[in-house]
Amino acid sequence: MRISILGGLFFASLVVSAPSKTIDDTLFPQVGWSQENGGTTGGKGGTTTTVTTGDALVTAVAGHAPKIVYVKGELVMSKRAKVGNNTSILGLGPNATIEGFGLQIDHASNIIVRNLGIHHAIDTDAISATYSNNIWIDHNEFWSERSRGFDYYDGLVDVTKGSDFVTVSWNYFHTHWKTSLVGGDPEAAATESGKYHITYHHNYWRDLSTRTPALRFSTAHVFNNYYQDISAQGIHSRSGAQVIVEGNVFQNVTEPISTYGKVIPADSPNTSPDGDYEPDGYANVRENDFGGAKNNITQVGNLTTVPYKYRHIYQPLQLVKPVVILGAGRGRLLQL
Ligand SMILES: *[C@@H]1O[C@H](CO)[C@@H](O)[C@H](O)[C@H]1NC(C)=O
Ligand SMILES: *[C@@H]1O[C@H](CO)[C@@H](O)[C@H](O)[C@H]1NC(C)=O
Ligand SMILES: *[C@@H]1O[C@H](CO)[C@@H](O)[C@H](O)[C@H]1NC(C)=O
Ligand SMILES: *[C@@H]1O[C@H](CO)[C@@H](O)[C@H](O)[C@H]1NC(C)=O
Ligand SMILES: *[C@@H]1O[C@H](CO)[C@@H](O)[C@H](O)[C@H]1NC(C)=O
Ligand SMILES: *[C@@H]1O[C@H](CO)[C@@H](O)[C@H](O)[C@H]1NC(C)=O
Repeated sequence: MRISILGGLFFASLVVSAPSKTIDDTLFPQVGWSQENGGTTGGKGGTTTTVTTGDALVTAVAGHAPKIVYVKGELVMSKRAKVGNNTSILGLGPNATIEGFGLQIDHASNIIVRNLGIHHAIDTDAISATYSNNIWIDHNEFWSERSRGFDYYDGLVDVTKGSDFVTVSWNYFHTHWKTSLVGGDPEAAATESGKYHITYHHNYWRDLSTRTPALRFSTAHVFNNYYQDISAQGIHSRSGAQVIVEGNVFQNVTEPISTYGKVIPADSPNTSPDGDYEPDGYANVRENDFGGAKNNITQVGNLTTVPYKYRHIYQPLQLVKPVVILGAGRGRLLQL
């Protein structure tokens, strides 16, 4: 069975060269917090459009009626695309990308983004979710460059302003500084505590500095990710966030997990060049390979279980690296 997962991934990666519009979800089902709170179906059953320009994408994803928007080719954006409720955005084939500006999910719900490259998003994040819920971000590739320093680009996938019920699965995050922030405001405990149910699984994180992810106030589950060359800090649970970290492999990661509330300078502190201080977070940690690196886990939390099933897609440690490298990113979905 474990071998057949690998075989299946390999098959999928070969077949995608003929892009088309139906995704076979037997190999990569939706698993995680996005399944709760009524579930996440995106534009299922709605209209379908194929877009080949940035402006057409902006128009196609607006409005709340169910809709599936296929992205074909390499689109240059002149502004962010603001995504309405009940929307699926799906890249066609292995080469669908948008660049310059990313996707804005604001006061929206029920959104799926799959098989898309989003790179060099300036001013804002590649994907930002604010005041939103039920989002599945799957099999995408996110990147920028590191030569411009840690504050030139913002995040790749940032989930803030109390957004909730999110799954981030099988994405390839690379060549960037501040990767994925959950909970943007350390002062927002009164309004945001109890939100941010979020799952990160089977993502490939490479050549990054921090926030893989950084979590505030969250109820998070981080499993079966593969981390490579993370220069400053990996998973950072702070401001009371609770996280389960299980079945992940870290290779050449400076500090895989911290629950210490100090926000290090490489994570852009805003009051002191030596770093800012927040309350610590919590982490429950099991079955990981830290590659010999040291964690700073100051508090073990009481989050030990999640309500959704995930053991059917859970890989043992020795398969995490090969399966994630083969299965994460664009061009991996079997498009029938
Ligand atoms: C995708 O891009 C690669 C590299 O440029 C190219 O070799 C390949 O033919 C493209 N595939 C499709 C389906 O466009
Ligand atoms: C869209 O979703 C948001 C967030 O859940 C909700 O506040 C809003 O009422 C929805 N809009 C429509 C038209 O259903
Ligand atoms: C659109 O999504 C909202 C939740 O955001 C849901 O309540 C509504 O039923 C959806 N509309 C349709 C037509 O599916
Ligand atoms: C470890 O990662 C750093 C970047 O954080 C990189 O410069 C270095 O080459 C990597 N070392 C190895 C052995 O891959
Ligand atoms: C780990 O956390 C403790 C606080 O509990 C702090 O004193 C220490 O400096 C931290 N270590 C590192 C390496 O950040
Ligand atoms: C878990 O721990 C947090 C922090 O101490 C606490 O606020 C919360 O009530 C606890 N939850 C349960 C279910 O015990």
